[in-house]
Parts: sequence; structure tokens; C-alpha cells
Amino acid sequence: MSYTPQLRELIKKVEATRADRVKKGNFRRMTMDERDEVLSKFHPDFIEASMRKLTFGVNRGDKIPHELADLIEARSLIEGLKFDLEKIAYDVDVLVVGGGGAGASAALLAQEQGADVLMVTKLRFGDANTVMAQGGIQAADKENDSPAIHYLDVMGGGRFENVPELARALTNDAPIALKWLEDLGVMFDKFPDGTMKSIHGGGTSRKRMHSARDYSGAEIMRTLRDEVRNRGIRVIEFCAVVELLLDSDGKAGGAVLYNMETGEYEVARAKTVILATGGSGRLHYQGFPTTNHYGATGDALVIGYRAGAKMAFMHTIQYHPTGAAYPPQILGLLITEKVRGLGAEPVNIDGEQFVYHLETRDVASAAIIREIKERGKGITTPTGMVGVWLDSPMIDIIHGPGTVEKELPAMVRQFARFNVDIVREPMLIYPCLHYQNGGLLIDENGMTAVENLYVAGEAAGGIHGGNRLMGNSLLDIVVFGRRAGRHAGARAKDIKVKKLSLNHVDAYHKEMEAAGVDTGGRVSPMLLPRYTHRVE
Ligand code: FUM
Repeated sequence: MSYTPQLRELIKKVEATRADRVKKGNFRRMTMDERDEVLSKFHPDFIEASMRKLTFGVNRGDKIPHELADLIEARSLIEGLKFDLEKIAYDVDVLVVGGGGAGASAALLAQEQGADVLMVTKLRFGDANTVMAQGGIQAADKENDSPAIHYLDVMGGGRFENVPELARALTNDAPIALKWLEDLGVMFDKFPDGTMKSIHGGGTSRKRMHSARDYSGAEIMRTLRDEVRNRGIRVIEFCAVVELLLDSDGKAGGAVLYNMETGEYEVARAKTVILATGGSGRLHYQGFPTTNHYGATGDALVIGYRAGAKMAFMHTIQYHPTGAAYPPQILGLLITEKVRGLGAEPVNIDGEQFVYHLETRDVASAAIIREIKERGKGITTPTGMVGVWLDSPMIDIIHGPGTVEKELPAMVRQFARFNVDIVREPMLIYPCLHYQNGGLLIDENGMTAVENLYVAGEAAGGIHGGNRLMGNSLLDIVVFGRRAGRHAGARAKDIKVKKLSLNHVDAYHKEMEAAGVDTGGRVSPMLLPRYTHRVE
């Protein structure tokens, strides 16, 4: 589905202003007051009716999106099933739940501590948001940069709400994480002299985005997965965790596994458990299409909350400003921020730029929604979806011919399938659901308030505050995956797991009943998104 004659007519207005926009240089950045205003009026997080307060559990009184609250206010998927918790199918030092970049990093570092590690993952090893990440990974590795400057960017991007210790850990470890990945074999983009290429992302004050073209996550996941396999770490695919097990001291001691192929439940006992199950984009908050992989259903939030771990920042969801609005076959798929990083500007129906191209994601998304909803300057696509232009042809003008094809080969192919040539034609974009900025609150070692329960990657909360910057997710999966793996692996040596139980689940049900919650028959975790309606 290439652009229609009507859209081609509108593209002429973008072309008419392009040379002038390139010549003028950067559009003015918003002041703090302007940022606050556009966020409060147009960012989806600020829509009061989109959230509700939890009435029980450790986050009682906190607001979270309804779609997530529906899973929290639900009974356990395994309620009523009879388990012999003495029948241990797997007895390990460290149980890693999730087969993305955080899980793989955690498994590797735990094994380095001499721990016996088991990884279980509900889809295939590598089916995760990591593999879909495009634009890059941040790390301060240049002379004009430092972890301290990176830290300030992270805090500013997070609206200064981040847990400072976690942001510090993230940015201090970043150069180490980058080198670790490179040593393992990640093929980062480099100049002929061997130095790493790096560009800006939204909200960065230095060029510290390192990429592997526009499939950075796939390259990182390829490397980590190979390493896990080469080191002989046991991985069970199509195996979900449906509930955590606590021991008689209330410490994490294992999990109930669900074999998605056979439908059987089994018990894994573990001295430490690391949840790395990713985010919750497949809950489609407020009906937004998502960039997330099929398994992103917030499982860690549900089972972790039942076990007593606290959620942080789950009232802030990241809407990526540049989701595809057209063609409809790729609605909501990610158009990497690297496109903006290389200079492409968001432009309205009249060919006018309306926001600085490297504003942080929350602000950029809110500005796009304002341009469409308040100012009426969006472009209506043939499906009725309204978007704005992202002027990709600027990139070759700024950096020289061939840059788009060289730097964004996946993006070029994604659009070429529908006869849209992003070297010469702008893309149509609208914000899409990309990331949960929060998750289960961790400390600097990745441990939650539940002893011996760790969380790493998108499932963890506190690092990014109210809004994550581009490239800090590929970074946090590695930094906190490594930290959690190292700590959990070392700690496991001294742990003796006491008698296991699911008593916390019974207590959770009772607390929910006492709070008068009507679950409406819901059970959780969801495990897989539901896109069909069963006809009874
Ligand atoms: O736009 C992107 O390439 C996404 C990167 C990220 O979320 O870090």
C-alpha cells in the first residue's frame, strides 16, 4: 500500500519547507514550564480516568492503569489446583525467569559465581522486547562525556523522580556493560579507525547512543543467547512461571512452572529467583497499539505483587512518539528514535515543524497529540488514523546520500514492503505504547523487598523515574541483569531453602476479599494476550 495521490499531494508541502528547515538548524527546545503544560494536557498518563487506586497490598492507595489493575485485582490462575510442593522437579541455585537480554545477562553472571542456573522462558529463548530494540544503547565512553553527565540526562529525562542510587548504578556501569557486550562479540557500528560511532537520542546532552545499524537489540540478543548456550546453561522454553513459592521465613524459594506445551505444572526450588519477564505492552493501555513482543503481559508484576514486592512508577507508561501510523499493516510498529537522532523532524500537515526533534519521548508524544487534537494539524490517512510526518529524507541531506540505507536498513525494508521509500518520502507517525517506565522496585543489586527475589530489565522499577530515555533500556537489561545475576549467584551459596508454600497466595485472596474487590471472575497472570472472543 504505497502513498495515495492525496498523501503525495500533501508531501509536497513537506518538501516545500525542507530546505529551509535544514538551513535554519534546530527548532527551539521547550522550557520546563512548556514541557509541564504539554505533558499535563496531552500525555496519556495524565488522563485521570485511565487509572485507578489499588485498595490492598503493598501499593494500596497508588494509582495504576486499569488494564494492569485488572490483573492485580484477580485470583491466581492456579487457585484450586492441587500441588505436591514436596515433589521437586528442579532443584537449583538460581532460577532465572525470562529469556530476553536481562535474563540472559543474569544467567551468565550467576553461573560465573559458580551457581547452578536454570532459565525458564514462556516463549522461545530470545522472544523478548530486547530482540525488537532498534536504536541503540547508551554509555558514556567518549572524552567529552562521563557517567556523571549521563546520570544528569537520565534524571532530567525521568522528571527527576528516578531512584538516584539506581540511576547512578545504571550510568556508572554503562561503559563496563558496553565493553562486556563488545568482548562477547556484539558488532557495534564503528568508524574505520575502530572507534565506536555514537549519536544523540531524545534528551541526551552528549552523543552516546551506540548501535548496530537499526537492529541493535537483535545483535545484542544474538550474542547473549549464543553465550548462554555455549556455556551450557540449562534453558527450558515454552515454560511459564505462574506463581512464586515462598519458604516458611517468607523468602523466595522457587516457583510453580507451567509447561505451555503439555499443560503440566511442576515445582522448581531455587535459592534465589530472578524475574526478567519484561514489560506489559500487550495489555494495550488505553487501547494503544504496541511495539512489544507477544509475551509482554506483565507477569512479573502480578506474581511479584502477590508475593509482597512493591511496584514503583507503574503510573507512568512510555508512549513512543514515532509509531507507524501508516500503512495500516504496520500500525504501531516502532520507527526507531535513531531516525530523529539522525536529524529527521516531526512536521505537520502544512510542512511546519512543531517540536524540537530531540525532545524526550514523553514531551514529543504529547506535542504530537496536541498538534493533532488541539491544533487540527494532523494528516488523516486512508484508514481514518491521523498522524504527523517524520521527515526522513532530511537525513541524507544532512549526512550525505546513502545514510538512510546504511544506518536504517531494517526501517527501509519495513516500509519498502509497502512501496513507501523513506529515503525520498516522509513517514506517517503517531505515538504508540512502547515501555513500562516502572516495575517492581529493586535495590542496587536488583533485589526486591522480598528476600532472595530479584528483578531485572523492564520488569524492574525505579531506574527511569517518570520517563526513560532511548537506549537506556538495552543498557538497564545488561547492567541490572549482570548485577542481579552476580548477587543472586553469590548469595545462593549461603542459602538453605526452608519448607515451600503458596500461603501468600491464599493470604492475597483473603486481603482482596476483605478490601471488597470484585474480580469479575478474572484470573492472572495473563501469560498470553487475548485477541479473540470465544463464542460459547
Ligand atoms: O526508538 C528506539 O530505537 C527505541 C529504543 C529504546 O526504547 O531504547
